Amino acid sequence: MDVIAAQALVKEFKTPWGAAARTVRAVAALDLAVPKGRIFGLLGPNGSGKTTTILMILGLLRPTAGRVSVLGVPAGHPEARRFTGYLPEETRLYEFLTGEETLDFVGRLFGMKRADRKRRTAELLERTGMWDARKRTLATYSKGMARRIGLAQALLSKPQLVVLDEPTSGLDPVGNREVRDLLRDVAAGGTTILLTSHILGDVAEVCDRIAILHAGRKVLEGDVKTLLARTDRLAWETDVLGDDERAGLVAYLREHSISFEGPSAPRTTLERLFFETLESDAGHGGGVST
Ligand SMILES: Nc1ncnc2c1ncn2[C@@H]1O[C@H](COP(=O)(O)OP(=O)(O)OP(=O)(O)O)[C@@H](O)[C@H]1O
Ligand SMILES: [Mg+2]
Repeated sequence: MDVIAAQALVKEFKTPWGAAARTVRAVAALDLAVPKGRIFGLLGPNGSGKTTTILMILGLLRPTAGRVSVLGVPAGHPEARRFTGYLPEETRLYEFLTGEETLDFVGRLFGMKRADRKRRTAELLERTGMWDARKRTLATYSKGMARRIGLAQALLSKPQLVVLDEPTSGLDPVGNREVRDLLRDVAAGGTTILLTSHILGDVAEVCDRIAILHAGRKVLEGDVKTLLARTDRLAWETDVLGDDERAGLVAYLREHSISFEGPSAPRTTLERLFFETLESDAGHGGGVST
């Protein structure tokens, strides 16, 4: 049984502006099947229907047509809600509560016992890098910090399904990596994750499978490994070659009609450079410049 199963899902919005009244088809005939324990990414440009799809899966929006079930029951069913964690696109929490109080409050809503709440709150404050800021009110949090607390609240009750609308938006690269590690651990524990993101690198690294939406339609779906693999090219990296070695290699490739590009020096990623710089600066606490 798939944890999320949507068939021919449609959502239309009517904009009631007199003569200019029109219908926006936000989601068009969408089929979706997300098996247990997978991390599934919904991608697509702004306005392509990602949030609308999520809201229908959560039972917060009624589909115009089609069906969607979650954990074997219709979307929005109390059984589905009880076992689902959700991080909305915009985190709106109670600003006067501290991070710690927020998680405790969410734990109460889920009917978690006190000891359980305390343990889980501490664990998630730690995992989301919010332990040091736990006694500060949400009003004082930066965007990324609010996002981290939002993620912690979505995971607090150990849900079977976690739905995250742009979990890494506003996060710095360190936070980004922490969140990706956390999501991978959560999925390894058997939890199913549906997320949206604009940051394609994140998605490629954390998702097992993706679907790309465009104007409400699914235009591509597949396993990330398969989608990104190129079977028509091979890449090699070698030590720097001397002139003769290089000429010999090129001559061989030409002789055998093997097409090639390069050689070129491999580039590091900006992400790797960022981490290396931070690591080498650890303990200095100063600014970084070159
Ligand atoms: N409540 C609403 N009333 C009218 N139109 C809406 C409503 N909600 C969404 N839409 C429209 O539906 C389409 C899909 O919106 P949606 O928020 O699902 O996109 P998205 O893929 O999440 O975009 P983003 O990347 O910007 O978050 C857009 O054209 C949007 O204007
Ligand atoms: Mg959205």
